[in-house]
Amino acid sequence: MKTVKDSASGSKSKPVTVPDFVKSKAAGRRLVMLTAYDFPSALLSDGAGVDAILVGDSVGTTVLGYETTVPVTMDEMLHHVKAVRKGVSRALLIADLPFGAYQADPVEAFHNAARLIKEGGAHAVKLEGGISIAPTIKLLTEAGIPVMGHIGLTPQSVFQFGGHRAQGKTAEAATRLLEDAAAVEAAGAFGIVLEGMPAELSARITAQVSVPTIGIGAGPGCDGQVQVWHDILGLLPGKPFRHAKRYTELTQVIHNAIEEYAEEVRSGDFPTKEHSI
Ligand code: KIV
Repeated sequence: MKTVKDSASGSKSKPVTVPDFVKSKAAGRRLVMLTAYDFPSALLSDGAGVDAILVGDSVGTTVLGYETTVPVTMDEMLHHVKAVRKGVSRALLIADLPFGAYQADPVEAFHNAARLIKEGGAHAVKLEGGISIAPTIKLLTEAGIPVMGHIGLTPQSVFQFGGHRAQGKTAEAATRLLEDAAAVEAAGAFGIVLEGMPAELSARITAQVSVPTIGIGAGPGCDGQVQVWHDILGLLPGKPFRHAKRYTELTQVIHNAIEEYAEEVRSGDFPTKEHSI
């Protein structure tokens, strides 16, 4: 069984740094990344020894009830990053730049990324896009902000894609994603999320770049995997996404617990003497 000793920092107590994260690729250590959106989810993920915690803009769909990640604002991201920061003592903490916070202007991107680091306490930021966003990645990394790239099915482009559709399925589209990965690496990104693309393509990109690739819905050939907190814990109703594995069904557990609580209040079985002061 692979334990926390096999993780990026090699120890349960030593914090994972960006260089640890990058070196994991050459060392053949698979990286584990999970999203978190608040203090308890951060505390539990950090305690379980994940290498990186991502405060994803998926907070919009998992926590805030939006239909897509597009409406998420900088203020909402900061609110959640600050809460997660309080629960992280070991994992590398990465925060998403939300839609509209970085696409128009690299200088605006710098100011927003700096807020996630200075006010939120993140160690690094993640942003979506390939060749077109490479100049922004270059500016941020040269200014000392570690950047993780994100290519393929980039959810902030959902309206352009016409839905959450896998990318890179034609030879032409695959070539474009190989070029995007090369541009993001050359601009200075320390890792690249590969989302929603054929497994063969993510394996080719992983072989082509020297920084770690982190897959989601991109097959087993990446250097690591990222999953969404609610997806692996079965915390949202409905069918699981194809790219996600449910390791437990917390919706049912929580539903049963709340029903039991309601029943005991109504019957007078709670509180007992033991819960009384
Ligand atoms: O917002 C998010 O959670 C993400 C991951 C799915 C990679 O970007």
